[in-house]
Amino acid sequence: MSNLPNVTPGALTAPTAASLNDSSVASHRPRILILYGSLRPQSFSRKLALEAQRLLEHLGAETRLFDPHELPMLDSVPSSHPKVQELREASLWSEGQVWVSPERHGTLTAVFKNQIDWLPLEEGSVRPTQGRTLAVMQVCGGSQSFNVVNSLRVLGRWMRMVAIPNQSSVPKAWQEFDENGRMKPSPYYDRVVDVMEELIKFTLLVRGRSDYLVDRYSERKGAVEAAALAAAAGAVEALNEEESA
Ligand SMILES: Cc1cc2nc3c(=O)[nH]c(=O)nc-3n(C[C@H](O)[C@H](O)[C@H](O)COP(=O)(O)O)c2cc1C
Repeated sequence: MSNLPNVTPGALTAPTAASLNDSSVASHRPRILILYGSLRPQSFSRKLALEAQRLLEHLGAETRLFDPHELPMLDSVPSSHPKVQELREASLWSEGQVWVSPERHGTLTAVFKNQIDWLPLEEGSVRPTQGRTLAVMQVCGGSQSFNVVNSLRVLGRWMRMVAIPNQSSVPKAWQEFDENGRMKPSPYYDRVVDVMEELIKFTLLVRGRSDYLVDRYSERKGAVEAAALAAAAGAVEALNEEESA
């Protein structure tokens, strides 16, 4: 717990597959990708993302923190660009994600949105976000608002992710971190701990069942219709070949 001086010893234990009492739950470390939305050297959304990363590691997760520096604006380069590939690969790898954006003009930042815009909903049969769990957080310069977390939830729905109920909004973020970049003890810090704990629990439950949960009637219907069309086209072709023989 030395890396987490503001967590009360004995009050936080890592949720594990065993604690769910369900032998069908996979036991490997939950894989969590963390995205944040600022390029400022002193960014508080980055500091909050790092705090989330420490907690997730303590709770048994394997984590990756994506650095949005050098990620070009959407469509200004081909998707083969190394930074785009790194982001897509990390999203594919993940079983859950944490999204942390500052509030700017009442909504999330372009830096944050650009990262999501680079993630294809579907490319072939590959879906880098679908079925992953999602925790949303924001930092505010002023009083507490929920504009960003609400927008992130909409974005998460669009990316077909499973957003957990809890969330964090840190008001006057400049007051909440010390000179070492660590979050000071406060109810806001405790909320971040709650959110990370809940994310791990939901990820243990959802991963391995994602394909079942996101399987949709309308898409199966489309596949059945496409198969019927292909079979009909094949039959016509065979008939034509027979006639011309
Ligand atoms: C142009 C501009 C607009 C901002 N708009 C808001 C806002 O609408 N709501 C808010 O709470 N903070 C607002 N802020 C304050 C930022 O959210 C705050 O500085 C935050 O720490 C920036 O994130 P970062 O530290 O990760 O770079 C704004 C700041 C700037 C420069």
